[in-house]
Amino acid sequence: MNKFSIFGQNSKSMNKPLIAPSLLSANFLELNTEIKMINDSEANWFHLDIMDGKFVPNITFGFPIIKQINTMAQKPLDVHLMIEQPERYINDFYDAGADILTVHYEAVTHLHRTIYAIKEAGMKAGIALNPHTPVECLQDIIRDVDLVLIMSVNPGFGGQKFIRQSLSKIARLKEMIVDAQTTTLIEVDGGVDTTNATDLVLAGADVLVSGSFIFKSENPQQTIIELKTLK
Ligand code: DX5
Ligand code: ZN
Repeated sequence: MNKFSIFGQNSKSMNKPLIAPSLLSANFLELNTEIKMINDSEANWFHLDIMDGKFVPNITFGFPIIKQINTMAQKPLDVHLMIEQPERYINDFYDAGADILTVHYEAVTHLHRTIYAIKEAGMKAGIALNPHTPVECLQDIIRDVDLVLIMSVNPGFGGQKFIRQSLSKIARLKEMIVDAQTTTLIEVDGGVDTTNATDLVLAGADVLVSGSFIFKSENPQQTIIELKTLK
């Protein structure tokens, strides 16, 4: 199966959300084992959080680590850029192995140009929105993007509390996507666990990112299955 067969589908034809474990909460000394665990699980993508200490008050990792992850990962690399002027590095992320590249609305001035540069480089293009940014700002670009990432915490750290207001944002975004007759995927990131996963999917989420809830659990592969199971 083509690894991008999910794009272009109407989410109604999917009966389960995709799960994208965020490696931010993985044990980096055991990255080998953590990647194998995800390869052998029901998870769909690897979610990689890139932070620059400017757009968000934290710094994570860069190209050498992404390249190493890419040599082992058997599922698409979903790269979430929390950096200023991400357009400077589009080709570098492609060379490192990114399959999906998501930039923050709040970090880019010429968003349309950046989205097309990501696509031209050979990746799927996403836009992330901070919790305070209304989805209506995407009205004139929604047809051009493959994915919208709704942040349900303030970006920067794993393990934060889910902001419930995100549910109505997802529902409004879903309406916008249906009205525009496009197939943009909705991804949600931050504080996702089994207490909110079903509500998120019912609101319209197609992809659930989850970090601490998966990696801090006793049986991460089972937790991934539970996140996919609607209650
Ligand atoms: C936060 C990151 C998230 C984070 C999610 O800025 O974008 O991907 O790893 O972690 P949890 O699931 O623990 O909130
Ligand atoms: Zn993220």
